[in-house]
Amino acid sequence: MSGTVAVVGGGIIGLAVAWRLQQGGADVVVLDDGEPGAWHVAAGMLAPGAEAAHEEPHLAELLARSNERWPAFAAELGLVGYDDTGTLSVAMTADDLAEAARVWTRQQLPLLRPSELREREPVLSTRVRAGVYAPGEGQVDPRRVVAALRERLAGRIVTKRVDDLSEVDAETVVVAAGCGTAALTGLPVRPVKGQVLRLRGEPGLVRHVLEAVVDGRHVYVVPRADGEIVVGASQEERTDRTVTAGGVHELLRAALELVPDLAECELVETTVGHRPGTPDNAPLLGRIDDRTVVAAGHFRNGVLLAPITAELITGLVLGGDADPLLDHFAPGRF
Ligand code: GLY
Repeated sequence: MSGTVAVVGGGIIGLAVAWRLQQGGADVVVLDDGEPGAWHVAAGMLAPGAEAAHEEPHLAELLARSNERWPAFAAELGLVGYDDTGTLSVAMTADDLAEAARVWTRQQLPLLRPSELREREPVLSTRVRAGVYAPGEGQVDPRRVVAALRERLAGRIVTKRVDDLSEVDAETVVVAAGCGTAALTGLPVRPVKGQVLRLRGEPGLVRHVLEAVVDGRHVYVVPRADGEIVVGASQEERTDRTVTAGGVHELLRAALELVPDLAECELVETTVGHRPGTPDNAPLLGRIDDRTVVAAGHFRNGVLLAPITAELITGLVLGGDADPLLDHFAPGRF
């Protein structure tokens, strides 16, 4: 098919890329295997500093640039649960504080005392020792984002499992297949298991996205306006899809230590997803041959990085004018 672009993968990255390509005038089709991807499990934290602070400056720049694009990206999509109330990152014990402080120092945010933290977020445990508030961070609901993107791409999404890129009849192929990218391209993308819980409580019970180190465990709590509260996540170098008793116990233990009132919430869902990790856990963005472009390996930040990925990949495919930032994420760098 001359002039067409086929996007392999209908997750949040593939759909965002296809949408921007379509807006840029491309004749685009999305080939999706019909299996819900990591987006279905993801909490949708937009926390370039708090959740994903990186020593690697180019990745930090990519995360920050994408976060800046989220307000407009969400506004174009409509009601997708975008919220920028900010993130509260907290530590419970002296050891937790030492661990968290490594990230907070890089963020250059003022340290808040327990009383200041509880003023912002009254339901926080009295055990909370210190924390920081990161304004301009927040969340979006990935399930609503994917639904909105699917609507924009109506008639352009084909349910089809692609096992070999040579089967794809298009002038340009964008591989945005998450963990499936490894089998299609030979690039080093590995699945990193995450167990995530969804609770339901009174809307407004928790006001901010919370990110914490609790007795050595990292946990986050993402409260939606409708009362859903997402609690995540384990990080396991495993490929299975089992929700384990130990995984659920650890998440609930840390979350309830952080916000004791969560004990009253209904536990409505336990899920497992696999983040697409790479050797340096930064994404793979760029050409691998004249016909094929890769947009994969976003690890913990697929939702956050969707707008900038869509913009950069669309520029590459339609304009040929590559943003210099892409040099640092070249798929062949390993
Ligand atoms: N972005 C959160 C996670 O990967 O668990």
